[in-house]
Amino acid sequence: MQLPDPEAIEAIELPLLLEAMVQRYGYDFRDYAVASLKRRLRRAMDEEGIATLSAFQDRVLHDPKCMARFLNIVSVDVSAMFRDPAFYKVFREKVVPGLRSLPLIRIWHAGCAGGEEVHSMVILLHEEGLLARTRFYATDINERVLEQSRAAIYPISRMREYTANYQKAGGKEQFSDYYTAKHESATLRDLGRGNIVWAVHNLATDGSFNEFHVVLCRNVMIYFNRQLQARVHRLIYDSLALGGVLWLGSAESLHATPCEDRYETVGRAEKLYRKVR
Ligand SMILES: C[S@@+](CC[C@H](N)C(=O)[O-])C[C@H]1O[C@@H](n2cnc3c(N)ncnc32)[C@H](O)[C@@H]1O
Repeated sequence: MQLPDPEAIEAIELPLLLEAMVQRYGYDFRDYAVASLKRRLRRAMDEEGIATLSAFQDRVLHDPKCMARFLNIVSVDVSAMFRDPAFYKVFREKVVPGLRSLPLIRIWHAGCAGGEEVHSMVILLHEEGLLARTRFYATDINERVLEQSRAAIYPISRMREYTANYQKAGGKEQFSDYYTAKHESATLRDLGRGNIVWAVHNLATDGSFNEFHVVLCRNVMIYFNRQLQARVHRLIYDSLALGGVLWLGSAESLHATPCEDRYETVGRAEKLYRKVR
């Protein structure tokens, strides 16, 4: 009998592995974009010294630490403070004025990674005099990145890049006033961390948990297939107040999503949208 090619076998193994993860741990990666998911699985298997998806399934099922290691690989937590600085500038100019009339502002950072985006927004709203009446809900699938976010400690080597971003984003102070450098790390000043709730939330399986005036879901849905993107768009739509603003990543858009006609564009290039119906 002729041996089937490895790809044909992987096509059988992959859905079984993903189903096993759902059943055993509740993590559902079945609607993640296949190409990038396979790359991450390949990396995880290399690191575990495992040759086949079936053998990886066996390890994951019997070893929760293996699942935790895979979670760290699959949840790509690349981020930066004031990432896409021009976007923050437009947010300041076009969204902040509308927030001024609200007695309490609620902002959801969905897929917040190491907290860089959240702490950038804290600085921005501090400079706009709105921080005291803002509550941030920063969520991610991965508890480990939330711990980093809470600590607000970043490599000193990135401060030059963050300073440049901050200036381009329309920052009003010296960025160095916002952190204390010690050895290789920079600890951000605590401007109002009591206003931030950090929580595990899975966009693939969890529901809406509050009503928000701003939702940032940036550079997260690029890892999902169209079906899961549609789910997340419905979830965000259900979580936004009328007039609330959605902010996507630079490679993402509302085009051809189920909620496209429910928003108007605030900044096309900046991927800022307002819920209007
Ligand atoms: C590339 S980072 C984006 C960070 C930040 N939003 C930014 O744009 O700089 C993607 C984040 O999405 C998170 N993520 C991936 N799948 C998720 C899911 N199903 N639910 C919630 N967060 C998820 C990852 O753990 C990771 O921290």
